Amino acid sequence: MDSHDVQADLKHVLYGREQIQQRVAELAAEIDRDYEGRDLLIVGVLKGAVMVMADLARALHSHVTMDWMAVSSYGSGTQSSGVVRILKDLDTDLMGKHVLIVEDIIDSGLTLSWLKTNLESRGTASVEICTAFRKPEAAKVKIDVKYVGFDIPNEFVVGYGLDYAEKYRNLDFVGTLAPHVYE
Ligand code: IMP
Ligand code: MG
Repeated sequence: MDSHDVQADLKHVLYGREQIQQRVAELAAEIDRDYEGRDLLIVGVLKGAVMVMADLARALHSHVTMDWMAVSSYGSGTQSSGVVRILKDLDTDLMGKHVLIVEDIIDSGLTLSWLKTNLESRGTASVEICTAFRKPEAAKVKIDVKYVGFDIPNEFVVGYGLDYAEKYRNLDFVGTLAPHVYE
């Protein structure tokens, strides 16, 4: 879907398709350089990271293996608690592997902080993080994010994998919703 398909639901477009593709290609070039001569496993965090994983993997000029995890950081409430449950674990043994976690967005950073520690405890050679978007809140937790697509304002955004009530993941851009959608 593009912005015309959801015009009535939008407040504004933050980053368009071309801008996102351009930035993802730049990140891929950095990753190619940084991991030259090493085997890399990229791990996508379901479901939000599907779009950035697909684009990033195709923009790389090196072989990588791909795996997926699904985690839930929310109990019954709506606040990220930092207590994470694994809904789907990796199929890959991480012993000795260079791992790059790929995320859609980092907000509080609690989920990723937990995930990084969890993967490191499995005997990895290294674990780094790549995120398409990062909010200002993320600066408050001590988490080293090596690759960031865009630093965005503290607004709720949808598209390019990000959802509101499971909708809008399949937008080819990222934008904010008009208040009438969630009020
Ligand atoms: P946190 O970094 O532990 O707070 O959790 C980040 C997760 O919250 C992301 O993986 C998203 O699933 C979700 N999230 C945070 N901000 C947004 C947003 O603006 N739009 C859609 N989902 C978001
Ligand atoms: Mg997510």
